[in-house]
Amino acid sequence: MGGRTPRIPWNALLAWYRANKREMPWRGSRDPYAVWLSETMLQQTRIETVRGYFARFLARFPDVRALAAAPLPAVLKLWEGLGYYSRARNLHAAARRVAEAGAFPRDAAGWAELPGVGPYTAAAVASICFGEPVPVVDGNVARVLARLGAEPLDPRDPKVRAALAARLRPAVAASGAPGDFNQAVMELGETLCTPKSPRCAACPLRGACRAAAEGEPERYPARRAPRAVPVRRFAAFVVRAPDGRVLLDRRPEDGLLGGLRELPMAPVARRPREAGARRALAAAGLRAEALRELGAVAHAFTHFRQELYVWEAVGGEPAAPREGRGFARPGRVAVATATRRALALASARKAR
Ligand code: ADE
Ligand code: SF4
Repeated sequence: MGGRTPRIPWNALLAWYRANKREMPWRGSRDPYAVWLSETMLQQTRIETVRGYFARFLARFPDVRALAAAPLPAVLKLWEGLGYYSRARNLHAAARRVAEAGAFPRDAAGWAELPGVGPYTAAAVASICFGEPVPVVDGNVARVLARLGAEPLDPRDPKVRAALAARLRPAVAASGAPGDFNQAVMELGETLCTPKSPRCAACPLRGACRAAAEGEPERYPARRAPRAVPVRRFAAFVVRAPDGRVLLDRRPEDGLLGGLRELPMAPVARRPREAGARRALAAAGLRAEALRELGAVAHAFTHFRQELYVWEAVGGEPAAPREGRGFARPGRVAVATATRRALALASARKAR
């Protein structure tokens, strides 16, 4: 790497951005809280999805003090469905630190010390809100740079990202508008220089782009071999109280989906028939008069795929009390996505 990028007309990119940037609720704001929140949501979530969550979150917790004062479950509830819940826990923990300190950090290095704030978010907030000339390198930016230089590189490798940031640094500083510059590169990657079908004809950097000149820009960055994702299978049980509440377990606070509710479940090797479901029922600490198969739902996590085989446990009840287990209304508590899908399945069956 290094040295392969020809002179890039970054000023043309900036002009393109200013003329074409998409409307987003957080754009135009230099409020560090709003920008930090939006960048945190945008890290792993599509812009269209973020819009609604961002507006609801900001309406409920309008500033960092309001967020710091909120109980964590209320924060998680608003995050429900966005995934990567550690983002919400970190945001909450960081808000408490900021509220305690009485002020936001003033530069990227200070932001990067807050829980959950990585180099990407720190640079985004510092450049957008404080005009600090620090480059943002997310997956979109890495892809654009890989194409400009026709370099096969792994855009997820932190070392690659650091090298790309070093390369961008002079251009960010020279732009005179670090926030716009960074957002311009991101926006290019999101709208024109997309992973599968870059629209080079409309791109302000086309004349300087080696991948476009070669004719197959979508070859960059090098595609990684898809990992085989392991599948974890569970039998999950819907136990209803007469008043409509559903038996739910609360996941441990630390760890995957920490604090969220989910159906009682037990691991199974494959889709169970009734006998297998009976064994899983006992393993989940439940008993029931009868079991009725409702169907299956799946949810993709970063490192594995979860499959739930959902059974209604008719006349079901806990065999013994369990920490974190109790009847609740799924609409009132933060529920894991797979469980929400399973419950949708259950109510669809009931309606038939
Ligand atoms: N993606 C994430 N944050 C962005 C921003 N501020 N502008 C454009 N694209 C983004
Ligand atoms: Fe991406 Fe094409 Fe623009 Fe090159 S010319 S940066 S490949 S959109």
